[in-house]
Amino acid sequence: MLIKLPKASDCHESDVTPESFYLSRRSLLGGALAGIAASSLPRWASANDASRYADVEAGKAPSWFADKLPETKWQAVTVTGEAITPFKDATHYNNFYEFGTGKGDPATNAGSLQTEPWSVVIDGEVAKPGRYALEDFMKPYQLEERIYRLRCVEAWSMVIPWIGFPISALLKQVEPTSKAKYIRFETLKDPKSMPGQRSSFGLIDWPYVEGLRLDEAMNPLAILAVGMYGRELPNQNGAPLRLVVPWKYGFKSVKSIVRISLVNEQPKTTWQSIAADEYGFYANVNPTVDHPRWTQARERRLPSGLFSPNVRETQMFNGYSDEVASLYTNLDLRKNY
Ligand code: MTE
Repeated sequence: MLIKLPKASDCHESDVTPESFYLSRRSLLGGALAGIAASSLPRWASANDASRYADVEAGKAPSWFADKLPETKWQAVTVTGEAITPFKDATHYNNFYEFGTGKGDPATNAGSLQTEPWSVVIDGEVAKPGRYALEDFMKPYQLEERIYRLRCVEAWSMVIPWIGFPISALLKQVEPTSKAKYIRFETLKDPKSMPGQRSSFGLIDWPYVEGLRLDEAMNPLAILAVGMYGRELPNQNGAPLRLVVPWKYGFKSVKSIVRISLVNEQPKTTWQSIAADEYGFYANVNPTVDHPRWTQARERRLPSGLFSPNVRETQMFNGYSDEVASLYTNLDLRKNY
């Protein structure tokens, strides 16, 4: 079903991602950084709750998070001239197939996810492997707010104020060996609390897995997030710990992480395993390389609707070229999509 637009002047029909694209994708399953506005503390920096953003639903923060929040470096990185997506949209239009394939399913179903206690395993090519309770895992890190664009491969986008810390800080702690070339992330596998994992229909070989090259993970923009909109992560957004790599399509940003492994070989990632011709390992946002079934030149910025589709041009590396383009100078981005 194609979305009908009210006026040709608003945008072309091809500018809007047809719902059929989402449905067809689902049917597969059944500090300061150059070029980015960085600011000193904003006027509300002393407030230590979600009240700085409108209409944020109060959560139930674990005590380690509440203790760390007042020291957060607010707006450590931000985007200028683009509105932050309302909390309601960011938390009710989600992809988290462990809780269903509909955009509203994660908000409806993810309440069953138990995020306390939570532990994270660090293993593979590291000097300091171990299993850490999340509150211990988090101890070394100062929280930072990172306001980033999020561009989904389905051609919708948002601007989200994450709270997290750079992966480079984690790597400093765990000390990768010289054999470590990639970092692999794994989501919880728990069919009891994750209805999507109980479904006998679907092509995902759980758990959901994602990965980065080590130099990508070391880039200052790559973070592990534990919060958003001034509060802890809602379950549907990947509580209690998720990856955020803003220059890549959203599917790289794996949610509810339980295992982080330093490995020698490129990990087999979930979407690549399902459809390698459509979803590559790199998944860098690239308006010049279309998805085989739709254009990647444009995106719908949420909130969007029939009469205000809010379509904009997609930017190379999602607008983060200055920070990340040098990672790919020797790579053919058409082959390594
Ligand atoms: N992580 C897991 N474990 N399972 C998923 O289905 N979906 C991915 C990514 N991380 C997904 C996941 C996709 S396709 C996107 S676009 C983003 O999460 C969406 O994040 P959001 O729901 O917080 O916007």
